[in-house]
This record gives sequence, C-alpha cells and structure tokens, in this order.
Amino acid sequence: MKLSTKHLLGIKNLTTQDIELILSTATQFKEVLQRPVKKVPSLRDITIVNLFYENSTRTRMSFELAEKRLSADTLNFAASSSSAKKGETLLDTVNNILSMKVDMVVMRHSASGAPHFLAKHIPAAIVNAGDGINEHPTQALLDAFSMQEQFGTLKGLRVAIIGDIMHSRVALSNIYLLGKMGAEVMVAGPPTLIPKYITAALGVKVTYNVAEALQWCDVANVLRIQLERQNQPLFSSLREYNLAYGISSQLLDSIGKKITIMHPGPINRGVELDSDVADGSNSIILNQVENGVAVRMAVLYLLANHNNQS
Ligand code: CP
Repeated sequence: MKLSTKHLLGIKNLTTQDIELILSTATQFKEVLQRPVKKVPSLRDITIVNLFYENSTRTRMSFELAEKRLSADTLNFAASSSSAKKGETLLDTVNNILSMKVDMVVMRHSASGAPHFLAKHIPAAIVNAGDGINEHPTQALLDAFSMQEQFGTLKGLRVAIIGDIMHSRVALSNIYLLGKMGAEVMVAGPPTLIPKYITAALGVKVTYNVAEALQWCDVANVLRIQLERQNQPLFSSLREYNLAYGISSQLLDSIGKKITIMHPGPINRGVELDSDVADGSNSIILNQVENGVAVRMAVLYLLANHNNQS
C-alpha cells in the first residue's frame, strides 16, 4: 500500500485510505516503541531537515525523535538563529539546505500556505508541521490515533472542539479528518472565535454554549487561546473567558457523564482548561504526545516509500 501523495501538506487532500494507512502503520511503529531497542533501520539512507520558522516544543521534538527511531540523519533549523534573520528568503534557505543532499523537509511556518508554496518550487518531499491558521496534519493524525486507541473506531464518535476555532490549524485539520472518517464534530466557543464559514463549508455543528457541547460529545478536544494571533481583543478578559468557556471539574461534574479530554498543547492552565481536568483520569493529553512519535514515524516512512517507488 502506498500514499496517494508525495507531500503531507494537509488533511484536506488525503483520501480515507491514506488516513487508514497512516494510522495502521503507526500502530506497528507504536509496537516498535514498546521494545527495549526502539529503533528500526527503515530510513537509514534518508536525511531530513526540521525547518522551524515558528516556536514548537512537542512537534519539533516528536519529529526529531521519530526520525532518529527510523535511523534517518537529521538536521535542525531554527529561524531565530539562522540567516533568515539577515533577510535570506525561504526558498533560498531551502535550496541551500537541499544542495547538501537533504531528502525531506519538515516545516513549520507562521504563514498559511508556506509549505504549499515550497512544494511548487522544490523537488524534495515536504511535511507540514503547522502553517499559520491553516492546517496541522500530523496533530490531527495523532489525535485520531489516540481517539481510535481509546474507542476502537472513529465512526460515529462525537467530538466537540472547544475554544479558539478561528486561529486554530488543529481545528481545521481535525474537522477534515473526522469528517472523512465518519465521526461527528461540534465546535464550541465564543461567537467571535468561531468563523462564520465553518457550518456551511465544513458541515460541523456550532454552539456558543460549552455545556451543550459537553452534553453532546464523547470527546472534548480543548484548544489553546492563541493571543499571539489576535490583533484586537476578541473577548473581554482571560478570567471571563475561563468563567464562560473554560473546562472545569465542576462543569464536567454537572454534566454527569464520562468525557475524554484532549488538548494539543501547550495548555493555558486556568484559561481554557483547569489543571485538575488536564491532569485528571479522563485526560489523554500525554497519550496524544506519546502517540505523536509513532504517527510521525508512519508519515515519514510512508512518504519516503512513496517517493522511492515513484
Ligand atoms: N501541539 C503542538 O503543535 O505543540 P507545539 O507548538 O509545542 O509543537
């Protein structure tokens, strides 16, 4: 089995078969990661650059570890300490790195569409590690893997995505993926953080009442308030946001049923999610992080395989 695509730019253009192939391959790599020797030689002839133009903890380390577990050679690029600071363009930077015989590019960028632009101009395979407010495909894949692990299937699962939908690439990738895999999605949060196109264009349910979303869902995927992307105030204060839209144990107790809690991280504790919920027994937040390594191993392995055979 092969992926239908040379790059992983987003979930939007993946087929259901692509998603199933990535998730089943990740299951095999998760088994590898339970062994005493957590390493396979699959990508020992491949060199990968991790090109991060925006800050990251989980995604950058998870990709680097996935590459090392697959025996690839890795290079790490942080824009803040690079010649990008002297004005070098993205394309010049990447072409210079590729001339050192690098095979694949993992890229995070604050500009939506940056990896799509790059894919038109370079021969190497590109993995989008998050582009602006557009997509974060490996986050949606690891979220799906974690939900599938918990519930056995995504089909018919009710997932509430709660918080700053407007600025979230995680929301969009999850909405695409869950729709393709037969899950139901409801988004919840303040009206100012839910874009108007979301119901008509993407077919998701919308509520501005978080309790209603919690009543409805099996899983609550709680998103970070992204203050760094908000040019003007979109709610009155963080304290009031927490009171109206934050997930607390009191609120969950009042709903009276088990809801699996997810968050892509980093968490604003006490804003969108209270600490006792984030660290509670229904939280799978650290399972998501653990699963990210196996999922990214699967993506890198399948893309390398696709590009070797074609
Ligand atoms: N979930 C996520 O993308 O986290 P980082 O920004 O730390 O990579």
